[in-house]
Amino acid sequence: MKRITLFLILLAGCPVFSQNYDEAKVPHYTLPDVLKTTSGKTIRNEEKWEKLRRPEVLKLFEDHIYGQMPTDYDSIRYALTEDDGAEMAGKAVLKQVGITVFRKGNSVQINVVLFTPAQAKKPVPVFLLINNRGKENTDPTRAKKSEFWPAEMLIDSGFAIAAFHVSDLAPDNKDTYMTGVLQKLYPEQLKMDNGMKAIGAWAWGASRVMDYFETDRDIDAKKVIVVGHSRGGKTSLWAAAQDQRFAACVTNCSGNTGAALARRQFGERISRINTTFPHWFSNNYKKYNDKENALPVDQHMLIALIAPRPVYATNASKDLWADPKGTFLALKAAEPVYALYKIQSGLPKDPPGINKPVIGSHFGYHNREGEHDMTVYDWGNFIRFARKF
Ligand code: GCU
Repeated sequence: MKRITLFLILLAGCPVFSQNYDEAKVPHYTLPDVLKTTSGKTIRNEEKWEKLRRPEVLKLFEDHIYGQMPTDYDSIRYALTEDDGAEMAGKAVLKQVGITVFRKGNSVQINVVLFTPAQAKKPVPVFLLINNRGKENTDPTRAKKSEFWPAEMLIDSGFAIAAFHVSDLAPDNKDTYMTGVLQKLYPEQLKMDNGMKAIGAWAWGASRVMDYFETDRDIDAKKVIVVGHSRGGKTSLWAAAQDQRFAACVTNCSGNTGAALARRQFGERISRINTTFPHWFSNNYKKYNDKENALPVDQHMLIALIAPRPVYATNASKDLWADPKGTFLALKAAEPVYALYKIQSGLPKDPPGINKPVIGSHFGYHNREGEHDMTVYDWGNFIRFARKF
């Protein structure tokens, strides 16, 4: 056999991924109309959006991308395992909360680290991080400090800050992701093509922490901002879309199947994410490998599900994989739904330059100079954004 034939045979057997980083090669695309129902009705006011179109769009995301979000459980228990008094030189109080959720005789535990400002006279707003990185990033002892979760900075700004780790819900691993909440509480989801997988399980966890916040008198449960970076940022969007108790959403460098438009096919694509991370999204999502245009939704509609609540989306200039421009355009394409609530977007027509945050309206956006990461620069802007509301 000739060498070239052998090479072609080998090539045919493995997936070939090509990434486009060239704006000129972005294909022509038409986004699904967020305001048009499946039966062709045009939505003209917030009542009709909430009654007809919002539930429909939510269901499309469940069925085709993230999987269902089970909401039933038998009981939930909170155990405050530590409440030490003064932390951070007297500025903060540390709470470590074990949240145990029971269903049909089984249970899972979510461990939350929470700092609240010690001097607060009334319940405070809180940033909740869905932590997809190492647990040392949210070190309760503060021996280790990390820009990923700069607790001191948040406390100094008058906010509470909390985090839980995704592995409490579903290990971030294609072979073991099902060993958490899925096998223990919702095994039926594993049999369904529109069943919840890891990202759904993490978002489900964020809602259980929200359940806890509703019981904590130091926290203003009407002002919970759910935050995630990258795969965590895909999750924060899905959590806020599902659970309207979250007051606002921060999605940092969330890229494909996060805040970036899929149809642009820029940077990471659906086929690639489904192949590298088959445990993140529902089985049904695999049908859209290399078929972005066949999806009944695009990611602007996920942002629209969060309306009228504020959304802050970020990118980093060197993180083309996550498509900074596609993120900006997704926010822009969600504007018509916010307009139904008479909320005007302060976003400019074109993406702002690097390190030029746009914070004035319900849509926050910036493209930080540098790499794929979440830094104090990003957090500083989230704080400014949160203060507006
Ligand atoms: C990979 C993946 C991205 C994801 C990122 C992360 O790069 O392809 O979709 O956002 O990991 O979570 O850091």
